[in-house]
Parts: sequence; structure tokens; C-alpha cells
Amino acid sequence: MSRIGILGAGAVGQLIAHQLASAGTLPFLLDRQLTAITEPYSLTDLNGNRNTLNFAKSNDKQALLGELDLLIITVKAYQVIDAVTGALPGLSPHCHLLLLHNGLGPHEEVAALLDGRGLTLGTTSQGALRLGKHDLKQTGSGLTQLGHCTGPAMAPGLKTLLLSAIPGSEWVEAILPALWQKLAVNACINPLTAIHGICNGELADNAYQATIAGVLRELVEVARTQGIELQEESLSARVYEVIRLTAANRSSMRQDVDHKRKTEIDAINGYLVSLGHRHSIATPTNRALVDAIHTLERRF
Ligand code: PAF
Repeated sequence: MSRIGILGAGAVGQLIAHQLASAGTLPFLLDRQLTAITEPYSLTDLNGNRNTLNFAKSNDKQALLGELDLLIITVKAYQVIDAVTGALPGLSPHCHLLLLHNGLGPHEEVAALLDGRGLTLGTTSQGALRLGKHDLKQTGSGLTQLGHCTGPAMAPGLKTLLLSAIPGSEWVEAILPALWQKLAVNACINPLTAIHGICNGELADNAYQATIAGVLRELVEVARTQGIELQEESLSARVYEVIRLTAANRSSMRQDVDHKRKTEIDAINGYLVSLGHRHSIATPTNRALVDAIHTLERRF
């Protein structure tokens, strides 16, 4: 039986933990201090069924980390490097890592730290809302894409387990183009909804059209410097489809701003601005969104 740890007990970490447990593999849910969480956690699924999980317990932090076959990291983008550097010394040389967060960038630094371990990257559009620290409500189904990044490939048994446990999940051979497409969605929806305090669906209004077009135009140019070819029209169609499908959602960045928490802007639009800067590509639309979110964050 595979031993799986999930580092990060936020909405995505809890949701994946419940989904693995339902598929018959009870994971260890770890907080950012790498302590296994022992309190029961509840999930109300899309059918309204409430299920409570008692996570696998371990009193010995070092022994637990050393026995893991897979560590799924579900902390926020800006916490990834600290989470990985904290966990690595305790992990066995064969432990595989999976990063699952919004935005791009941290994987470049993580890949350099792995010491021969394998790295998979992923993105999920499943929606979940924390009603309390231990109480989660799934608010939407959505695509989850996973794919190999570097080092040894994920063991076939682990891959099969993840794909059967997470509804709507798929393995993609080229994960980076998939992550860039998700980045485009987040770069348009997240800052605009956070700045204007609106639900995703309100972005269909003409007032936001020029900004969305500007974000995507700059993103396509910056992506090209990374060898990623994207089409502005198809990205735009995808962004407006997500706006329609998640019309009633409060984006994750809007929720962060509403709760006065640091946002993932630096790994989303900020990543585009810094890559643009490195390659002498102007990114005024993305830069204006980054500045507006930083201004909000400074008031927290
Ligand atoms: O970050 C989010 O909120 C989600 O990724 C998305 C797809 C924008 C829906 O709200």
C-alpha cells in the first residue's frame, strides 16, 4: 500500500485527502510544521453528503516523512519553497513530489533542490470552500491535470491511484503548456475579481474586456520566450468559458483579499511581469494588476 502525505491543510489539501481516502488510501495530512493532523475533518460533497475523516496518525515526524512514497504539496505558491526545503531532509531518496498550486514559478527552484527525486506538477479547477478550519464544502467539479516535470517518473501505481481517486483528473504528457493555460485563466480572473470585489461571472461585462485582452496578449508573448506557443483567441475563449462556468464563485484571490491574507499574485501576474522583464517584453497590463493587488495587501 502506498504511503501518501499531503503538506498543506487548506481547501485543496483537504479535498484531495478526502478523495484519496474515499478511494481506499488514507493519507497523512500535514500542517506546514510537518506535523500530522489528527483532528477529524469533514467534507460536504457535491451531492450534499457529509463525510468525516480521521486522518492516519503518527507521533514520529521523522519516521513518517521517511516512509512516504509521495508527498503532495498543496500550500500556497509563495509557501512552496519553504515547505519543500523543510520536508526534503526527512524524505527518503525515492519519495516523489507533486506540486499542486495556482500560478507558476516555484517549480524552477524546487527542481534544483530535489537531489535525484522525481517531480510531478499539477493544477486543479475543483472548487471548495472552507466553512471552518475542519469543515469543507465542495462547490464545483473541474478538471485536474497532472504531468511529469523532472527526475524519475511517478511510479505507475501512484499515478493510477491519483487518477482514480480525483474525479475529472487526467495525465498530460506536456504539463507546462497546460499550466500556462491555467495561468492565463488565473491571471485574468483572480486579480480583477479581487480588486473589484466581484464574483467571477461579473467579468463577462464589457468593462473588463480590454484588460482581459491585454493580460492575454502579454502572456502569449512572454510564454513564447519559454518555448510555449499559445493562441490568444483560444485562451480568451477558455477564460470566458471559465467565467461562465464559475459565475457564482468568489475566486481564490478574492477570498484571500476578503480575509486579508497574502495573495498568490507574485506567482500569477507577477511571474509574467518578471519573465517579461528578463526578456525585455513590456507587460503594462499585468504590472498594473500586480501593483493594485500589492496596494491592497499593504493595507492588511
Ligand atoms: O483560483 C481560482 O479561484 C480558480 O482557479 C478559478 C478557476 C479562477 C475559479 O475561481
